[in-house]
Amino acid sequence: MEQIEQTEPKKKILSLIQPTNTPHLGNYLGAMQNWVKMQEEFDCTYGIADLHSITVRQDPAKLRAQIKESYALLIAVGLDPEKSTLFVQGHNPNHAELSWILSCYTQFGELSRMTQFKDKSAKHPENINAGLFTYPVLMAADILLYQADLVPVGQDQLQHLELARNIVQRFNGIYGDVFTMPEGYITKATAKVMSLQEPTKKMSKSDENPNASVWVLDDRDTIIRKFKRAVTDSESEVCAREGKDGIINLMSIYGAVTGKTLDETESEFKGKGYGEFKLAVGEAVADKLAPMQAEFKRISADKGYIEDCMKKGAEKAFRASRKTLQKVQKKVGFIVF
Ligand code: TYM
Repeated sequence: MEQIEQTEPKKKILSLIQPTNTPHLGNYLGAMQNWVKMQEEFDCTYGIADLHSITVRQDPAKLRAQIKESYALLIAVGLDPEKSTLFVQGHNPNHAELSWILSCYTQFGELSRMTQFKDKSAKHPENINAGLFTYPVLMAADILLYQADLVPVGQDQLQHLELARNIVQRFNGIYGDVFTMPEGYITKATAKVMSLQEPTKKMSKSDENPNASVWVLDDRDTIIRKFKRAVTDSESEVCAREGKDGIINLMSIYGAVTGKTLDETESEFKGKGYGEFKLAVGEAVADKLAPMQAEFKRISADKGYIEDCMKKGAEKAFRASRKTLQKVQKKVGFIVF
């Protein structure tokens, strides 16, 4: 008798990145690298969060260029637009629609406790807009629209993810099993890549010190120079002891790009100074990023290709998320045709 093989449906993955600047090494190691690793095994949807990015004022021409750049980088990093859904958030109107509905199921108090909201409003006191406040609701809509099981992010997004989980619990509690409960997917060693200049602070796109962040499109010399200037400590031993934040950060980065453990790195640089170690980290990072940079250059030369992928991605994202939105609309009592 013929056997019919039953295969489990693939788990769904969803993650987005803001196009507010070129991605930095933290975005790459904390998020994008995992996105690529997950694409074979899972049903993946990755996107450019253009809607989120305007919670802080943007120059329109620069934003447009950065959306294209970030999208091309998704492909350059190794994501295949045929295997995964690669889309721009604003191209799928379902996000804004679900976000509105979910905002009516999110409490003012919950949003007031978000540390990113507190940090960003302290940084931009002249523009504490409602979008900045409801930012995590839109992020919940991104995740829940696609019924994502896993959300690969860095540590800084975990509080937002927790809020999305609270919304699921509340909404499903009222209306039944509408949304999948999403889980975070974190790679511990690179969940929080630190600034090269202030290693107790995370590497951030908005850091004003040009030596604090390595951008994934920095050239080899710039990358090596930034690592040479990285702030460490007054000792000379390459080891992951408490208090050696700068060295631990460099060892974690080195491990992430070479696959070496902290112990292996410690043995490799035993008796060698910080200068030699920093140079090795800079060279290893530059080597790791070089193929992606070459691919980015190649893809970017073909404007038609990027636009074509964006359009197809938008259609795929719309189709994949419409059913959930309509289910939600019916549940809350809207008339759906
Ligand atoms: P964004 O654009 O700030 O960052 C993109 C991804 O990079 C991670 N990340 C880091 N990881 C390690 N070390 C760092 N220093 C570091 N800095 C950033 C972030 O955690 C993130 O995974 N709100 C999100 C974008 C978003 C989203 C979503 C993410 C919108 N909707 C839905 C997941 C699911 C953000 O601003 O990421």
